[in-house]
Amino acid sequence: MCGIFGFIGNRNAAPILLEGLRRLEYRGYDSTGIAVHNSTIQTYKRVGKVSELQEILPDVIEGHKGIAHTRWATHGGVTNENAHPHIDTNNRLAIVHNGILDNARGLREKLQSKGVNLISETDSEVLAHMISIGINSGQSPEDAVRHTLNRVTGTWGLCVLFEDHDLLICASNGSPLIIGQGDGENFVSSDPHALTPHTQNIFFLEDGDIATVTIDKIQISRQDGRTSSTGMTILEKEWGESDLGEFPHYMIKEIHEQPEALRRCISGRLDYPNGSAKMSGLRVSPVDLRNAPHVRLIGCGTALNACKIGALAIEELARITALSHVASEFRYNDPVINTKAFHLAVSQSGETADTLSAVKEIKLKGGTVHGIINVVGSTIARKCGQGVYIHSGPEQAVASTKAFTNMVAALLMFAIKIGRTRSFTTERGRVLIDEFNKIPNLMDEYLQNSGPIDEAVGLLKDAKCVLFLGRGLSMPVASEGALKLMEVAYIPCLSYPAGEMKHGPIALLEEGSPVVVIAPNDKHKQKTIASMHECKARGAKIILIHEEGDDEISLEADVSIAIPSCDNLLTPLLTVIPTQLIAYKTALVLGCDVDRPRNLAKSVTVE
Ligand code: F6R
Repeated sequence: MCGIFGFIGNRNAAPILLEGLRRLEYRGYDSTGIAVHNSTIQTYKRVGKVSELQEILPDVIEGHKGIAHTRWATHGGVTNENAHPHIDTNNRLAIVHNGILDNARGLREKLQSKGVNLISETDSEVLAHMISIGINSGQSPEDAVRHTLNRVTGTWGLCVLFEDHDLLICASNGSPLIIGQGDGENFVSSDPHALTPHTQNIFFLEDGDIATVTIDKIQISRQDGRTSSTGMTILEKEWGESDLGEFPHYMIKEIHEQPEALRRCISGRLDYPNGSAKMSGLRVSPVDLRNAPHVRLIGCGTALNACKIGALAIEELARITALSHVASEFRYNDPVINTKAFHLAVSQSGETADTLSAVKEIKLKGGTVHGIINVVGSTIARKCGQGVYIHSGPEQAVASTKAFTNMVAALLMFAIKIGRTRSFTTERGRVLIDEFNKIPNLMDEYLQNSGPIDEAVGLLKDAKCVLFLGRGLSMPVASEGALKLMEVAYIPCLSYPAGEMKHGPIALLEEGSPVVVIAPNDKHKQKTIASMHECKARGAKIILIHEEGDDEISLEADVSIAIPSCDNLLTPLLTVIPTQLIAYKTALVLGCDVDRPRNLAKSVTVE
């Protein structure tokens, strides 16, 4: 989604800005632009990739400060005019903005009635003109931004470049913005990942902060003029960009990184002697865990699928009601929040606006939330103030893979932990922990011999629609498989509990329809075999993901892909991998851009 990068220092700004944009590319975007200050502000922007922007740039752009943006269209189509930076009428300042201004329409009308000529269809452009009006009436840059922001509603990560002032003004409200402190130079970004090559000393602006950034100073205050308590944080080194190495795409690289990522996630957390899990980031006593009335898990997309697995596992192991919630629905359904309940917000990026607003809703109503987050220091992680990092490392493909398995792993560890306070014995816990420890090696084993994925791709690539079926813990795996194939190969996919299929989706089946079935050797298997028969009787072709050695079910399939056998509770960590490979390889065969699927963003920072 939209990304911001800014620089002020003694070096030439343009190459630094372009490199910053390149590091933001993984978030997904449709147009891009930079503005550099020399004696005047020069702005270049266009629809397309950063590499396409580079094509229209002069060989050398002089200037030691500037701002840059990747845009993911919300207000107004994908056009050069709508790309950021936006400038005011006299080209005295330029702005880049992430987020959405709710009252933009009224503000646009007001500006137009004053004779301001708006060039774009965006909400953001109003900011440039409003700040400019403030400057023209004698306000300082900081006051002009402050007064403007006092008149807009919505969300912003904002960075402003001025013709007549040697500084950048930044502001944040509901959309992340981070200032990186260098040595005689400073940086701005919406994403800590883009700052790692330059500095680890960063300031995460809080909602309502305004920062004045010069070559050697970062001054942060509140929008209402009070002093801000925002302090410096040291960014973890692991957030540097990783390169592709031997892999052609990040998606396949990240699929193959899963064993190592999982080792990091479970390292030091699996507590064999107590048959439990150590999760020191969870600030809750065993007594409070035992007495919690229920658990709620909240996320979007892949994180939501992980939540669904977590909810089932928690309910099964801890005998406590556990519910998963679609984050974008949560707040608007006015949920009743029990302050003793345990809430978990699950997110790879830690920046997803829907999940963040659910966290705010819970806190507003007196509840507490723990984060299950990948990106260290991200907004949701900071807002929760407690929780567990999943340590997947940077995930650069838009389609999430290694974050999914680590979210599931973290939630399964939590299920074991809460289960031990409420229901099952140390012995049962030890068996689970023992089995858990084996999973990274089993992932490696599977990835070395992933089975007839190409045959599955052959059945899927021309499909009008693909049905994914599973039961119990395998149902969210089916949903994750469907989401992945849909995202990267643009094939319409439906995921259904296998037993529900006969209540509707069976109408879609015709000769040759591919159906992907996730069926480990668990208590649901016999019922799933019955569902497979129902599909086959209508001419469907079955692509089955099952445990190795389970001939009873594998003989029923047209293509059967075996994962190593493991404890039933842990099967999602393995059964999901073939679905990821299927999605990846189908996308390749269809010529899709696997790492940057159309219309999608890695970090969805608007509601
Ligand atoms: C799927 C995918 C998205 C994200 C969703 C939530 O491959 O990437 O569905 O899972 O946007 O993102 P996070 O986990 O960052 O909150």
